[in-house]
Amino acid sequence: MSFEERFNRTLDRVWAWFERQVGLAHTPPEPPREGSFQPSAWTGAFVLAAFVYQILSGGLLLLYYQPSVYPTLTQCGQASGVLSSSPAAWCSTFYIMHSVPLGSLLLTSHLYGAYAVILLLFVHLFRGYYVGTYKRPGRKGSWIVGVVLMLLVLGMGFTGYLLAYTQLSYNATQVSVTLAQALPVVGPALANLLIGDGTPQSLLSRAFAFHIVLLPLAIALLVFLHKRTPMFPRVYLYLVKWGLLYVGLLLGVASLWLWPLPTYAGNIGATQPVTVPAWYFLWLFKLVDFVGVTPEEAMLFTVAVVLFLLVLPFLDRSQHIHPRDRPVFLFLGNSLLGFFVLMTVWGDLAPGVPVTPADVALRLGPVLVVNALVVAFFYGRYRRTGGAPTATREPTPVPSPAPGPETSSVVSPSPPSNLRGSTITLPMLLCLLGVVGTLFLLAFGLWLPFLFLLAAFLVSIAEAARPSHPPSSGLRSGSPEALVFPALAFAAVAFLLISLVVTVLL
Ligand code: HEM
Repeated sequence: MSFEERFNRTLDRVWAWFERQVGLAHTPPEPPREGSFQPSAWTGAFVLAAFVYQILSGGLLLLYYQPSVYPTLTQCGQASGVLSSSPAAWCSTFYIMHSVPLGSLLLTSHLYGAYAVILLLFVHLFRGYYVGTYKRPGRKGSWIVGVVLMLLVLGMGFTGYLLAYTQLSYNATQVSVTLAQALPVVGPALANLLIGDGTPQSLLSRAFAFHIVLLPLAIALLVFLHKRTPMFPRVYLYLVKWGLLYVGLLLGVASLWLWPLPTYAGNIGATQPVTVPAWYFLWLFKLVDFVGVTPEEAMLFTVAVVLFLLVLPFLDRSQHIHPRDRPVFLFLGNSLLGFFVLMTVWGDLAPGVPVTPADVALRLGPVLVVNALVVAFFYGRYRRTGGAPTATREPTPVPSPAPGPETSSVVSPSPPSNLRGSTITLPMLLCLLGVVGTLFLLAFGLWLPFLFLLAAFLVSIAEAARPSHPPSSGLRSGSPEALVFPALAFAAVAFLLISLVVTVLL
């Protein structure tokens, strides 16, 4: 056998092994199971929907945004025909906020939308962690690609943060580049990739290129590889109504709490702000505040967490999917979650304040100890009372029609289809109330968010009234979804109504 043949055969074997491990091959896409229309089963789709809003709103912002650190003639407070004293990136952002019709709403919703994408992403990740979605046939690959997606989405947040070119974002980006440089092996190359020739313009241009072209393209490609459940046409109404509700809420919240644009980078008249990153990197900045922790060690810790997530499907190999039967992974997941929440809050409350080892032990210690005690106590009690392992994952691929992306642990026959017809039901009445509330709010002039909320109600009603030929995206009688959506939609309107009244009165 020639060297070339041997080389190809080895490559084939390695690839076949990889395919077997991650289940990429021979696992046909699965249709969603009837009854899997509950929000927890579609957390990934919600991330995607929120991401789509980012692309649309970002595309509109692009019409005005100028990725330049040099002065511009665009109007941002200076006399007409005079060059701005601020960089064009900031000046054009100011112009969007103050001169473009609905510009401040657009920009604020893009910003809050980014927060929502990241929040939803973590919900999707931790839900997958706790219910062991990576144990489903063919989902090891989805998980690994998901971890890469998480890094890319955080990269979108990182690069986007600089674009408004405020003093705050400029300072935070400088610190972050130093941290990136401290990454083992790839650090210097990654930092060089970000800063280019070392000028502020080069940093901004690269952040812009990554933010609007390179990262979105990579994310689109990976999402295509990542999701294994076809969503159209069966689930589209379901997703559309959630998407509309999301956009309505986002615009509502954005219009009530418009983003105040901080001062521009290089404004010598302004006092230097405390360097804080966007909230999703607060934990990392706080970690560097720990006395004795170097940037290299902080980055090593970050790499360890990412590696842990990457290899998780190969570590947690038992058939059990119920967290109660996976005490070690339950403890590790709780610890990670507790650590990130605590560090984020801490980073927000005391940014840049050095932390002594005693303080670290005092605050982080209880998170780990209480978590370990609670998990050990409940696991011990559960074993003593003779609890048989609950939920296990079938080792063999489930024959079609297979379950959709939901949590059910045992493959059970579909419950009798008892879809709602077109009679008036409680959810519809709730929707109607929501519509009345929406109309009331229109009187206050916040019409744009409520158009979306209104559309969400209407689609929700249309969905509830859809004929019951299975498998449709109709609502199963008694399913939590039948009540959850309208109740949430109604609560959303009530929430906006109350905040509006409070804003007007106070
Ligand atoms: C840009 C980020 C992401 C997007 C847009 C996304 C999107 C999706 C979509 C649309 C699905 C199909 C079912 C569903 O809606 O849940 C899915 C499933 C899945 N995702 Fe993600 N995802 C992202 C990030 C992640 C991350 C960070 C992880 C974990 C590390 C992950 C792990 C998984 C797994 C294991 C499944 C299969 C679940 C199952 O079928 O039971 N995803 N994702």
